[in-house]
Amino acid sequence: MRHIISTLFLALVVAMLASCGNSGEQAAAEQDRYHINRSDTSTIKKAHKSVLILSGSPRRGGNTDLLCDEFARGAKAAGAQVEKIFVSDYDIRFFQEADERHVADSADVATDDAPTIVRKMLDADIIVLSSPVYFMNIDGQMKTLIDRTYSHYTDLKNKEFYYITACADNAESTADYAIAAFRGFVMCLPNPTERGMVKAIGLGRKGSVKGTAFMQQAYELGTGV
Ligand SMILES: Cc1cc2nc3c(=O)[nH]c(=O)nc-3n(C[C@H](O)[C@H](O)[C@H](O)COP(=O)(O)O)c2cc1C
Repeated sequence: MRHIISTLFLALVVAMLASCGNSGEQAAAEQDRYHINRSDTSTIKKAHKSVLILSGSPRRGGNTDLLCDEFARGAKAAGAQVEKIFVSDYDIRFFQEADERHVADSADVATDDAPTIVRKMLDADIIVLSSPVYFMNIDGQMKTLIDRTYSHYTDLKNKEFYYITACADNAESTADYAIAAFRGFVMCLPNPTERGMVKAIGLGRKGSVKGTAFMQQAYELGTGV
């Protein structure tokens, strides 16, 4: 009996250790949960792809904003047509019941800037979603904009997505909360493809991302569009 118990205990410890060392598989399983296509190469067969970068931090020149710039630089070098939007510059109000109507039908209902940005999202081949981690989530600017796509989210089809986030914490699992928020949106769209992400950790101070490997990572992701 003692032998069986100690064998079972040993098997349990081995299983726990194996699962700890399996972060690659865990990441894949986590992604599968969202039913989002993943591709290392572009699925969009166009010479000049259009890229819309949604820079979601309220800190202009902050960490995610700088990473967005690096991504833009890379994407331009790759021949893409790039537009970066600093979301905080726009008047985007909370989703209201009236916003359930189709954007095309409700141009006179929504008087803020949300329909303009949603149209840019509809026109883009590739969308970069970026936000700092705010209380283990994305920030209010990005969430409010995402909610305002509601009247057109089923038209946001066949798009490719990149995610950019930054956080003060040194643990990648903290950045994953923002990634999960982005994925929660993207998984609701028709046939999206996830192309890549930057999870810039250990960055509390504004601009502290400068000179880190995350900048190079963002540039290289951009060149891959
Ligand atoms: C309201 C607020 C909430 C934050 N919450 C977190 C958090 O939950 N975890 C974390 O690691 N950092 C958190 N931070 C720090 C930011 O994620 C970090 O400073 C990040 O680099 C900011 O990016 P930005 O320069 O692009 O704005 C928070 C910052 C603010 C202002």
